[in-house]
Amino acid sequence: MSTNLFKVDTFMPRGDREQKLKQRGRVIWMTGLSGSGKTTLAHALERALFNSGHIVYVLDGDNIRHGLNKGLGFSEQDRLENIRRIAEVSKLMVDAGLITINCFVSPTEALRTLARTIIGAEDFLEVHVHCPLDVCEARDVKGLYAKARRGEIPDFTGISSPYEAPQSAFVTVDTSKYDIAFCLKQLLNAIEPRITL
Ligand code: ADX
Repeated sequence: MSTNLFKVDTFMPRGDREQKLKQRGRVIWMTGLSGSGKTTLAHALERALFNSGHIVYVLDGDNIRHGLNKGLGFSEQDRLENIRRIAEVSKLMVDAGLITINCFVSPTEALRTLARTIIGAEDFLEVHVHCPLDVCEARDVKGLYAKARRGEIPDFTGISSPYEAPQSAFVTVDTSKYDIAFCLKQLLNAIEPRITL
């Protein structure tokens, strides 16, 4: 790393941006197994918040891995770099006064702690999108579980790589028991006070 780098202070305080946008910058961090419903819920939440006047943007693992994080795989080291980069991007967006909804499997406490540390605990709202493995596997929307069971995908979360459920998530929604509308209501009830000025 170069030693000839200096951090430049921002001249536009975050608070000024938040006043203009009439919201607090926050990261809503959704963790859960592949197929648990993170992306579906994130888009429903994005639409609901947008319709109520918020400036909000979804960052999704599957999409980000086609661009910013192209070339990263699913080893422990690559997942760490995936989460580190996305946490840094989210931190900038929060400083810009925006709300991001981040959908990343982020399977371990260590990965989520890294994200929380980079973003800052106050701005990091952890949502556990809970759905038992057998239900995700039965859904198998992308056909990845079948491939993983055939041994065609190494380090597949839930099959050949661990998933550690968060111990103290800000909110937990269970998409195996409740429909999207109900989970969305739960999320909105918890999140709205935290994004309101
Ligand atoms: S993370 O573990 O690094 O947070 P991320 O959310 O970016 O993962 O990407 C997960 C998505 O990549 C899954 O929804 C799935 O579609 C796809 N995928 C491909 N290979 C794997 C794998 N080995 N483990 C988990 N997901 C995988």
